[in-house]
Amino acid sequence: MSRVLRVGVLASGRGTNLQALLDAGSRPDYPAVVGVVISDREDSRSLARAQAAGVTALFINPKDHSDRSAYEAVLTKRLQASDVGLVCLAGFMRILGSAFVRAWQGRLMNIHPSLLPAFPGLNAQRQALDHGVQVTGATVHFVDEGVDTGPIVLQAAVPVQATDTEETLAARILVEEHRIYPEAVRLFAEGRIHVSGRKVTVR
Ligand code: GRF
Repeated sequence: MSRVLRVGVLASGRGTNLQALLDAGSRPDYPAVVGVVISDREDSRSLARAQAAGVTALFINPKDHSDRSAYEAVLTKRLQASDVGLVCLAGFMRILGSAFVRAWQGRLMNIHPSLLPAFPGLNAQRQALDHGVQVTGATVHFVDEGVDTGPIVLQAAVPVQATDTEETLAARILVEEHRIYPEAVRLFAEGRIHVSGRKVTVR
C-alpha cells in the first residue's frame, strides 16, 4: 500500500477549511491525512477542531520570537518534526517570508475566496461585490513570494446574485472552498499535479 501523505495545516481563525481537510482525511479511500495543525492564535477554533479529530494542535505565539524569520523557522521545524509532505494555509492571517516560502516551494498551498488573479488580499468577497462582477469563486494555488500570486491548482466559479451581501456570497463561496481544497490535496497526494512555470496540469 502506498504511503499516505501527511499534511500540515496553518490556520488562524474558525477553521472550516481545516475541517474539510480533516473530514476528507478520515475517509478510508482518501490519500492524505492532517498530521499537525499550527495556529498563531491561541483562541483559533482550528486548534479545537484538530484536538477533536485527535490531531496534534500547536499554538505557536509569534510574540515569543524575535522576528518573522525566527518564528517561521520554528514553524518549519515543527512541520518537519511531524513529517509533513504538504503545507496547507487555511485562513492563516500572516504573510509568509521568502525563506519559509522557498523551504516549502511546490509543497505549500493556499485557498483564496475569489477567482484569482481577481481580488487578491483581504476581503475578496467585498472586493467582488464592490467591483460588480457577476461571477466570482474560489482558488487553490501554490504559494509563491507574492500575495495570492502563485500557480493556480483548482478554481470553482460562484455566480453573484443581485441580492448578495458579503455574508451570503462568502457562504456560497465557502461551499466551493470545502470541495476544491480537499480535491487539490488529493491530486497532490496522488502525484498528479505538475507545475511548469505558472501552469499547473493535472494528469
Ligand atoms: C476562507 O475564506 C479562505 O478562503 C480564506 O480565509 C477563509 C478561512 O476560513 N483564505 P476558515 O477559517 O477556513 O473557515
